[in-house]
Amino acid sequence: MSNHPQPKRTRWQAIKMAATFVVPYHRQVFYSLLALFFTAAITLSIGQGIRLLIDQGFATQSKDLLTQYVAVFLLLVIALAVGTFTRYYWVTWLGERVIADIRRQVFNHLIHLHPGFFEQNRSLEIQSRLTADMTLLQSVIGSSISFALRNFIMMVGGIIWLFITNAKLTAIVIICVPLVVTPILIFGRRVRGLSRQSQDAIATVGAYVGEVLGQIKTVQAYNHQAIDQRNFHDQVEEAFAVAKRRITQRALLVTVVIMLVLGAVGLMLWVGGIDVIEGRISGGELAAFVFYSVIVGSAVASISEVIGELQRAAGAAERTMELLQAPNQIQSPAQPDVLSTVSGTIDIEHLCFAYPSRPDVLAINDLSLHIRAGETLALVGPSGAGKSTLFDLLLRFFDCQSGAIKLEGMDIRQLDLFALRQCFALVSQNPALFYGSIRDNLRYARPEASDATVEAAAKAAYAHEFISELPQGYQTLLGDAGLGLSGGQKQRLAIARAILADAPILLLDEATSALDSQSEFWVQQALQQLMAHRTTLVIAHRLATVTSADRIAVLDHGRLQALGTHAELMQSCPLYSQLAALQFQLT
Ligand SMILES: Nc1ncnc2c1ncn2[C@@H]1O[C@H](COP(=O)(O)OP(=O)(O)OP(=O)(O)O)[C@@H](O)[C@H]1O
Ligand SMILES: [Mg+2]
Repeated sequence: MSNHPQPKRTRWQAIKMAATFVVPYHRQVFYSLLALFFTAAITLSIGQGIRLLIDQGFATQSKDLLTQYVAVFLLLVIALAVGTFTRYYWVTWLGERVIADIRRQVFNHLIHLHPGFFEQNRSLEIQSRLTADMTLLQSVIGSSISFALRNFIMMVGGIIWLFITNAKLTAIVIICVPLVVTPILIFGRRVRGLSRQSQDAIATVGAYVGEVLGQIKTVQAYNHQAIDQRNFHDQVEEAFAVAKRRITQRALLVTVVIMLVLGAVGLMLWVGGIDVIEGRISGGELAAFVFYSVIVGSAVASISEVIGELQRAAGAAERTMELLQAPNQIQSPAQPDVLSTVSGTIDIEHLCFAYPSRPDVLAINDLSLHIRAGETLALVGPSGAGKSTLFDLLLRFFDCQSGAIKLEGMDIRQLDLFALRQCFALVSQNPALFYGSIRDNLRYARPEASDATVEAAAKAAYAHEFISELPQGYQTLLGDAGLGLSGGQKQRLAIARAILADAPILLLDEATSALDSQSEFWVQQALQQLMAHRTTLVIAHRLATVTSADRIAVLDHGRLQALGTHAELMQSCPLYSQLAALQFQLT
């Protein structure tokens, strides 16, 4: 997301797009508007009530008339109360409903976006900004717009009544309007600019908290709290400084408006008072007049106050819509080729790839590799060689710059994404677990799996034993990112999940690196069975895994250096024999 102020046109588009979320609820909008006009009309009619009360109730000294007027007044109050209830209910309902829809839609969009998007935009920042923006939009749709509209109606209605009541005095009010509007426009623009900055600063603060708390053990292990406190302090103060500038502008705006509005009321009382004293208008008329001008004045003041918030909301809408419109760079083709049976043949042809954030370094460099159906291929190579990157490309998290990956002879870019990813079961380098029970985490790969199937998978991954020993067994709740398990336990859950997925191609990224030799042995047995009838790509640093593979591909700097069996490579590939000497025997 860019932090630059956007041209007016995109803001306008954003508001229009946000408005489309309201369209399905036109009935509720109608109820709200009806209640809004109704309550505004009643409030305005109270001024006439005051006039009648003073001029006829008090002036004629008739108790009966007074009683009648008060009765009418009470009826109006009841109508006003009912109208206000209806208005409040439906307007707030709209705000909550529309935001729920927007929130859902944004999530639906983000969850399909290409992973590269989240490298360019910190996901924690998106998250915290989304929360802030949504709250703002909700308060605007669920109150401020209606508040502004109500005040606008009161202002227009009030001015009309003013004219009817006394044209001369109204002239004074009208002359004051530009005096009020001008500062609103000037300060409003400044508030708008600062609001965007303010929101950005708050999003950064939120992201920082998320990151630090997510890595709390590292923070404390390195006694980094003081530095984090200082960094956080700076960020919070930065956010506060921006907010302070915004508040100043906003406060100035309100002050100026109040002074101008009430100053005008004072002037009016003076001119009108003289008219009453000289008998040109009645006391009731002046009272009604003051009532209307106060209504008009406070309406203008309220609108000016809400305008700041509406402008902030326009910024929020813009950012939300930006997210909603962020183009997905990895998409299924319109007419995908259909995979009938997947035997697991993969052809990698002159593959070149650089990460978007590092466009001039090729993470995969002219890589060609034919992977046969059912074979186990070990990928070895020094750290940073591009092994994990190759998995990313197979799963089409990124598209290559040139060359191609073919599954069953079909370019993966020609396949439906869902169908493509269904062909793979991935055990990634960092076991990815989620907040929830162990059972849910296992079932991740296959939500419809029965309890028995889940347990069978856990048994095959040698996870059943430790799960059964936990107090709540399979129902044990894991913290965020699987907090509460050892590294090896997490890894076994990840393997069980892959077993459950039962996909034709298995991608193991150092799947057994965190296991002790004994559990590794058992997991290895389980994996052997699993690997027996499917294509397996295994990234490994351990000799046992590597030697049991059918072939070994040696990668370095994104290039394929050599391909063959352990014995062949020991002979022909110096890099491999070096790796074998240094790495395999030590672990
Ligand atoms: N998201 C990313 N953005 C930019 N560069 C990346 C990204 N991920 C990896 N790289 C770079 O791409 C290269 C290959 O990384 P990769 O993760 O594929 O290495 P690897 O062979 O899996 O190494 P390891 O054995 O340490 O896991 C490295 O130079 C790395 O710095
Ligand atoms: Mg890796």
